[in-house]
Amino acid sequence: MTERILVAVAWPYANGSIHIGQVAGAYLPADIFARYHRMKGSDVLMVSGSDAHGTPVTLTAEQRGVTPEQVYTEYQAEFLDNWGRLGITFDLFTTTHTENHQQVAQDIFSRLHDKGHIYKSTMEMPYCGTDNRFLADRYVEGECPHCAYDGARGDQCDNCGRTLDPRDLKGITCRICGATPEFSDTEHFFIRLTAFEDTLLEWARKQEHWKSNVKNFTISFLEGGLRDRAITRDIDWGVPLPLDGYDGKRIYVWFEAVIGYLSASIEWAKNRGEPDRWEDFWKSDGRSYYFMGKDNIPFHTIIWPALLLGYGGLNLPYDVPANEYMNLEGFKLSTSRNWAIWLPEYLDRYDPDPLRYVIAAGMPETSDSDFSWREYVRRNNDELVATYGNLVHRVLTMVNRNFDGVAPDPGQLDEASEALLDEARERFAQCSASLEAVRLRLALNTAMGLAQAANRYLEQAAPWRSVREDKAKAGAALWTGLAVIDCLKTLLYPFIPFSSERLHTMLGFEGRVTEAGWAWDPTATVPGRRISSPEPLFAKLDEAVVESEAQRLGA
Ligand code: MF3
Ligand code: ZN
Repeated sequence: MTERILVAVAWPYANGSIHIGQVAGAYLPADIFARYHRMKGSDVLMVSGSDAHGTPVTLTAEQRGVTPEQVYTEYQAEFLDNWGRLGITFDLFTTTHTENHQQVAQDIFSRLHDKGHIYKSTMEMPYCGTDNRFLADRYVEGECPHCAYDGARGDQCDNCGRTLDPRDLKGITCRICGATPEFSDTEHFFIRLTAFEDTLLEWARKQEHWKSNVKNFTISFLEGGLRDRAITRDIDWGVPLPLDGYDGKRIYVWFEAVIGYLSASIEWAKNRGEPDRWEDFWKSDGRSYYFMGKDNIPFHTIIWPALLLGYGGLNLPYDVPANEYMNLEGFKLSTSRNWAIWLPEYLDRYDPDPLRYVIAAGMPETSDSDFSWREYVRRNNDELVATYGNLVHRVLTMVNRNFDGVAPDPGQLDEASEALLDEARERFAQCSASLEAVRLRLALNTAMGLAQAANRYLEQAAPWRSVREDKAKAGAALWTGLAVIDCLKTLLYPFIPFSSERLHTMLGFEGRVTEAGWAWDPTATVPGRRISSPEPLFAKLDEAVVESEAQRLGA
């Protein structure tokens, strides 16, 4: 039976460019996983969109003196352009600022309200007397009561990942004017999270396949006890409440953004003219994988599942392979200090595959990792150019020089050749199993190990020598090399799709590389098939890149 795989990717706030920390945390792993599953023949739906509402966008708009609408529209266009150039293959990348999303979010709100999971109450919220307004979420800052981080915001601490209430913040100040706000009563709607605590704990404990960091975080969060949370705000940008008399309030951005996974699936199905198709991914045996950085974990393993349980009839997340952080040159990324590599700038200067490769090779799957330009240049030059690129170049060049540009005959393969083919089969199976388990870094490692093994094999077989005295022997070695390169083309496709696509054509195959499917059969390397003379797959980078990029950081 066809597997149905929903690849749900965290929605970036539409108030700034994407940086490579987000690429490492969510977009690249999601894309690798989706490409693998599509190639394998699974029915895949990969969705996300701009998180267009809430205080992140209104604050930016106020700072720039433009409307929130202008801010989110600008970044929506930029994100779409960037996904195309980096090869992040969403089936739909929409925004939360659509009619459809508003309807779905309001429907969930109404159903939860009708069922008694949402109730109205009065609460104290910070009110700034200078600015004459309530200060929601990012409009206040203070010290986190859990970890003492002093840049914690009204709704969450970015340092320890705890969700917060403005009343928790020590030394609370207004982000607009710096004054200390007063707390004042306001009416809000609350989600009865306390009612879901036991069910969620029981569910989380059963998730044997979750990464231990995600599972432990979730369980200790739940064991700490849930509190009902306000899911409306006193702001005027966002999804209106589906109730009369609340014009000055909007649904809390996190409450409606997570609903985006569902509304985007529905929008995608409508666009295809198959309005019920989203159900394949949300009901029965559909499996959902949610990709995000670790600061987003509680919203996906606790709050979103609580909403789904309350709503009923839809699948809970199957896996939440959240990543740790990728630091930059030894320091934590900081967008305000410009300690970041901005994706649009990267794409203007370099190729997509090397970034995808370097990030995947150091993917922060189990602990924080580090990106440095020195390592970027080294991996590009040593691993992509010298190991993989050179393997392809040597084999294809010799086939062209010595065998008229067609795949030679394998004849009777010697032991070393058979051993290499066996190794390729074994690595193919291991790589598949790792991808299946979302262990992407390991999968890439396994694939690159095959490129190294193939280089060692070629050194031994030395077809450039045997071609003069024993052409059949040289032909057998080159045929083996071609077959293994064909295997690498597939194994590396999810990671570096642009080069795999070009290699597929150079190897003389018709059509797109994805049509070959997630399979490898050495007999597909048919003797006599035309092999192009090679174009370099990767460009060597000058060491000067390290220096010039270092200068941009922090500037
Ligand atoms: N916009 C949030 C962030 O960048 C992520 C939202 S994920 C969603 O941290 F599921 F809520 F959309
Ligand atoms: Zn103020």
